[in-house]
Amino acid sequence: MTILAIETSCDETSAAVVRDGKILSNAVSSQVALHAEYGGVVPELAAREHLKNLIPVVQSALDAAGLGGADLLVSPDARQRVPADLKLDAVAATQGPGLPTALLVGLKAAQAVAFALRKPFIGINHHEAHLYSPWIVSERSAEHRLGSMTESPATCRDGARRSGLAADFTAFQPNVSLIVSGGHTILVLVESELKHRVLGSTVDDAAGECFDKTGKLMGLSYPAGPEMDRLSESGNPKAFDFPRPLLHDASDDFSFSGLKTSVRYFLRDNPALLDDPQKIHDLCASIQAAIVEVLVAKTIRATKRNGVRCVTASGGVTCNRALRRELALACKKNGFTLHLAEKSLCTDNAAMIGILAERKLAQNIPAAGLDEDIKPGWVLA
Ligand code: KG4
Ligand code: ZN
Repeated sequence: MTILAIETSCDETSAAVVRDGKILSNAVSSQVALHAEYGGVVPELAAREHLKNLIPVVQSALDAAGLGGADLLVSPDARQRVPADLKLDAVAATQGPGLPTALLVGLKAAQAVAFALRKPFIGINHHEAHLYSPWIVSERSAEHRLGSMTESPATCRDGARRSGLAADFTAFQPNVSLIVSGGHTILVLVESELKHRVLGSTVDDAAGECFDKTGKLMGLSYPAGPEMDRLSESGNPKAFDFPRPLLHDASDDFSFSGLKTSVRYFLRDNPALLDDPQKIHDLCASIQAAIVEVLVAKTIRATKRNGVRCVTASGGVTCNRALRRELALACKKNGFTLHLAEKSLCTDNAAMIGILAERKLAQNIPAAGLDEDIKPGWVLA
């Protein structure tokens, strides 16, 4: 089965071709540079950028997957071509949650392609797709792994061709899954494939937002998470003692706004710290340690309590090296198996949308209507 998948829920325009569990291509065009100027994602700009990039990105994914007639969508003689040239069995797109105008671009484009090809359309919950992204692994040895795919459409084409990634559910076991990004921090119990229950989520800011906003207070540019990760490597995580919100709370919920406020007041009272580069490294490491400790402790506790022996994690913050290290250590200590999403698939991508769509079709879950609307507030149950 060959599926074209499209993801435009936030600030990454992505298209992927998935066939029988293999990621034939996964093209991603990131808008990070555009939004950096504004210190966060501007929804109207995101939608315009998706409109501009979607066709080149889809083209890139189709080309990289080696599908014939791939210039169907953009060539001046497109009307001369037969849609059936495109050998696809289904088309999928993120239906929600996400920014409404951004979702609209990808969803309506995918429905239009499905309509033209007379193929089923599958609307996917973005968070549900994240749950299965840690099971997408390198087909071959590490040297074939992709680096960052958050590149322009022109360059991601080559990256897509080398992907060598495929879903492997043979080792699947019930797990607790941490989805941690700039907009979300969610803990989910995944009992079996396509069966899950949300255990908790953030009651205010997401962990990535906490990285980005505390980084901004220190003068780092948006998104600050990756830079804080880098600076933390030469900082002392014990230099400053910041709160670990809800660490001992009985729920599986998270809260990060108090930590952000605490950093704000600390910097207001100690402005000279920012004149010393080493102190900035120490601050980054100390903030990162607070965020990571809460994420790891609550994930491990939920895993124990639910009687499962496997942890998975995905979302942009899962790129964080300290989080990856600490989760690995904690899982080892507790005898849990750990599946972290490949770094290239931690951030938003259409590959995970295509893989979930394929699993749904394989399990005879009915396709969605071509007139179905976006679901910007679609909460994972
Ligand atoms: O999943 P993502 O690309 O987009 C959504 O938010 O949906 O995640 C982006 C978030 C940003 O907050 C960014 O700062 C954070 O992930 N991030 C990191 C790292 N890489 C990305 N945070 C900490 N350490 C990193 N290495
Ligand atoms: Zn995401």
